[in-house]
Amino acid sequence: MSDTIWAPPRDVTDLEDCYFYHTMDIPGLGVVEGEWDLRGKEAAYLGNVDFNGKRVLEAGTASGHLCFSMEKMGAEVVGYDIDENQQWDIVPFHGIDYEEHIALFKRHIRKLNNGWWLAHKANNSSANVVYGTIYRIPETIGRFDVGTLGSILLHLRDPFLALQSIAAHVDQTIIVADILPRLRSRVLEYVTRARHMHFIPDAKTKAPYDTWWRISPRLMREFLMVLGFKRIEVSYHDQCFQGKTARLYTMVGHRY
Ligand SMILES: C[S@@+](CC[C@H](N)C(=O)[O-])C[C@H]1O[C@@H](n2cnc3c(N)ncnc32)[C@H](O)[C@@H]1O
Repeated sequence: MSDTIWAPPRDVTDLEDCYFYHTMDIPGLGVVEGEWDLRGKEAAYLGNVDFNGKRVLEAGTASGHLCFSMEKMGAEVVGYDIDENQQWDIVPFHGIDYEEHIALFKRHIRKLNNGWWLAHKANNSSANVVYGTIYRIPETIGRFDVGTLGSILLHLRDPFLALQSIAAHVDQTIIVADILPRLRSRVLEYVTRARHMHFIPDAKTKAPYDTWWRISPRLMREFLMVLGFKRIEVSYHDQCFQGKTARLYTMVGHRY
């Protein structure tokens, strides 16, 4: 049995075997197109945190654009993601072919992880990656100065448990980036003094099946404070999603 939890390296050379979630400029290959183009705005996405000398746990590393960017900013990064042996939290709409969706996701996840390995080699990266579900992070992964959760909580059935699971390994700073709820929800939240989590799946259209929540900054702040992050900063930024502008917020929580 292997005595390491790091995923064994994959030797991926063919772009056809990969899926890129991020648009990435891969050394030796050029630009590969992905759903999100964060290039040039990585620092804003990550809350302008200083990564120099920090040990970082990156939840949901996907094709790794942020992982390799944080490494270039001086961090030692461990990526974390699911692989084809774990199940994505698919919304269990009554009547959908659940098994077919799971099979589709398995293929998708394999290609997504392959993209990470191809870019890892091209970037000459020293990052490690661990595959598993975010709900059960192995103790042996160790301690981290910083934990990041970029656009992952909206895809999870239990975002608070996921946050708690990452926070349990973080000694200093947690960074959460998420989609900003629409103005109407924010005004409603302000007026009612509530803390909102909007449920996205629509029973009539049976869509989307991979996104659960729009979590307001006010609620996210409370989540982080419950988990022991005392000083919270929030910033807002525009990013490029499939050629369009998407407004996000990034919350940085400090333990002290
Ligand atoms: C929308 S992508 C975000 C990628 C990147 N963090 C960013 O901010 O650009 C979400 C990532 O979370 C991963 N993910 C989804 N469910 C997960 C789970 N239960 N455990 C671990 N990772 C998960 C997906 O495979 C995917 O790589």
